Amino acid sequence: MRSTQLLTLVLAGVVAAAVPAAAQKTDGGQPVTLETCATCHDDVAAAFVAGPHGRAMAKVSKEILARACATCHGPAAAHVDDPSPENITKQPGPEACTACHADRAGGLELNMPAHPRNGVQCLDCHTPGHGDPGTGHMLKKPVNELCASCHQLEAAEFRRPYAHREGAQKPFDCTACHDPHGESRRGRLTLLHNGGVCIECHTATAGPFVYPHPSREVNGCVSCHEPHGSMNPQLLKRHSVMNLCLECHADVPALHDLSQARYRACQTCHVAVHGSNRDPRLLAE
Ligand code: HEC
Ligand code: HEC
Ligand code: HEC
Ligand code: HEC
Ligand code: HEC
Ligand code: HEC
Ligand code: HEC
Ligand code: HEC
Ligand code: HEC
Ligand code: HEC
Repeated sequence: MRSTQLLTLVLAGVVAAAVPAAAQKTDGGQPVTLETCATCHDDVAAAFVAGPHGRAMAKVSKEILARACATCHGPAAAHVDDPSPENITKQPGPEACTACHADRAGGLELNMPAHPRNGVQCLDCHTPGHGDPGTGHMLKKPVNELCASCHQLEAAEFRRPYAHREGAQKPFDCTACHDPHGESRRGRLTLLHNGGVCIECHTATAGPFVYPHPSREVNGCVSCHEPHGSMNPQLLKRHSVMNLCLECHADVPALHDLSQARYRACQTCHVAVHGSNRDPRLLAE
């Protein structure tokens, strides 16, 4: 199908429903709709309508699709009356996205405040929708490549001997634990409290325990585990379990004769490393 044909079909329901804002009318009083733009930019408009953003908008409301071009590139009326590249916004800023996605902007602040604070915005991660990058959700790159483009260190940690991987190789998506801007608040901060995102999958470690270890509000799972990958089995922060324990328990009771191998294998007696319901000394599950 030629792009102009496709456009005509899709736009059939669009123009009638369009409700223009005053600032988005031309001198002649015409609303600046997608179809207005399409009279001169038919290929660009057709590709947008057929692309992921156009389809997602149309699913919600044809009216939203109709005012999309002017919302991102506005104010557009002057340009329609006097077409020239000088009187149109070529590279819209984040406010263009926020006009329709205030909720996502709020989610960005809530989940990963470091992103907006450092100027990381919608278009650093997403394309505007002029084409289909084929990544899902209009991401500029597949999700792990996208995050790795700025977070090489964390991405590299997934190549350590012990890491969250599916099968032998493919690492978990970063979004398995970090939500960039949803309502879950699990971008960063809540990862650390009460077991955070970890206990969504590792329910057995979740408790609640009569005797939690240590009180999880304080440090969470990452006081003992490396979330992205580790040189040590079970993603532990230290090679030997004993060294891990002694970092916080330098003053173990005297009965522990650490010159004996038997006492160095702490978890053989303190089996309930994540918490116990029966024994405050974690000697039973
Ligand atoms: C009457 C014809 C006409 C209409 C209607 C029109 N444009 Fe344009 N537009 C042009 C021309 C001509 C240019 C300059 C093209 C060039 O220099 O390559 C242009 C340039 C642009 C540019 C800058 C492109 C660049 O690479 O510099 C953008 C963005 C743009 N138009 C968006 C829109 C949008 C959005 C609408 C609808 C609100 C619209 N145009 C409506 C004729 C039109
Ligand atoms: C979600 C915001 C958004 C919407 C909606 C949008 N654009 Fe764009 N447009 C952009 C951005 C950002 C660029 C800069 C180039 C890029 O990142 O792809 C751009 C680039 C352009 C360009 C110049 C580059 C090119 O592809 O030739 C034109 C012309 C254009 N847009 C026209 C339109 C028209 C017409 C519509 C409606 C069908 C539209 N845009 C809808 C954000 C948007
Ligand atoms: C004119 C309103 C409007 C503007 C402006 C707009 N969007 Fe959207 N967008 C929508 C609607 C409606 C949907 C579908 C419902 C949803 O997912 O929220 C959508 C969906 C999306 C999706 C999901 C697409 C998918 O395949 O799952 C992404 C990503 C997106 N928008 C990013 C952006 C970005 C980035 C900008 C700014 C450059 C932007 N939007 C500007 C209305 C808009
Ligand atoms: C740090 C990168 C990043 C930034 C910044 C970002 N996003 Fe996203 N966005 C993503 C990822 C990754 C997904 C896919 C989420 C998933 O798979 O769980 C997504 C999904 C979406 C979706 C569709 C899924 C949903 O949540 O309904 C929309 C809509 C969206 N983003 C809009 C926006 C808007 C608007 C902004 C700016 C306010 C923005 N995004 C900023 C990475 C980002
Ligand atoms: C354009 C670059 C860029 C991209 C893409 C990006 N980030 Fe970031 N991210 C940053 C910067 C800059 C910071 C703040 C400084 C730092 O911690 O490195 C940050 C901080 C973070 C933080 C700490 C959050 C906080 O509020 O303390 C997390 C977690 C994070 N990013 C995860 C991700 C994930 C997951 C993705 C992919 C969906 C991603 N980032 C994509 C640049 C980026
Ligand atoms: C298994 C869950 C999980 C996965 C998967 C995951 N992370 Fe994390 N990430 C965490 C946790 C938990 C923290 C908090 C660690 C801390 O503060 O000690 C964190 C912290 C971060 C930080 C902040 C680091 C800092 O020191 O400020 C960045 C950036 C980050 N992750 C990026 C990524 C990227 C990129 C990916 C994908 C390659 C990813 N994460 C995958 C759980 C995960
Ligand atoms: C999306 C689900 C999911 C999330 C979230 C998750 N994990 Fe995992 N985790 C898994 C799976 C699946 C395995 C592999 C289990 C296996 O091999 O039996 C695993 C393995 C582990 C292992 C190694 C177990 C072993 O026997 O070697 C540890 C330790 C671990 N996860 C800790 C964590 C921590 C800490 C967090 C939070 C930072 C976390 N996980 C978040 C699913 C998850
Ligand atoms: C005080 C240190 C410590 C804390 C805190 C901790 N772990 Fe562990 N975890 C360990 C040790 C030590 C092992 C290895 C036990 C062994 O070898 O028998 C382990 C093993 C595991 C395993 C693999 C064996 C199993 O029990 O399934 C998973 C999964 C795991 N931890 C997840 C978590 C999660 C999720 C959290 C947060 C809710 C967490 N851990 C908090 C020390 C800790
Ligand atoms: C990140 C610090 C940390 C690490 C690592 C750690 N613990 Fe603890 N542990 C604590 C805290 C905090 C308490 C609670 C102490 C209190 O309430 O006085 C505790 C309590 C205990 C208790 C209950 C007795 C008591 O003092 O209340 C035992 C037994 C114990 N830990 C053994 C271990 C063993 C075995 C390991 C290694 C697998 C280990 N701990 C690793 C911080 C840690
Ligand atoms: C052979 C079994 C065994 C091994 C191995 C062992 N413990 Fe213990 N641990 C005990 C017993 C039994 C108690 C209770 C002593 C008491 O109540 O007087 C105890 C008590 C403790 C306590 C104090 C509990 C309290 O009530 O104050 C801590 C902390 C502790 N162990 C840490 C460790 C660490 C760290 C290791 C590894 C270096 C370790 N244990 C290895 C048997 C063991």
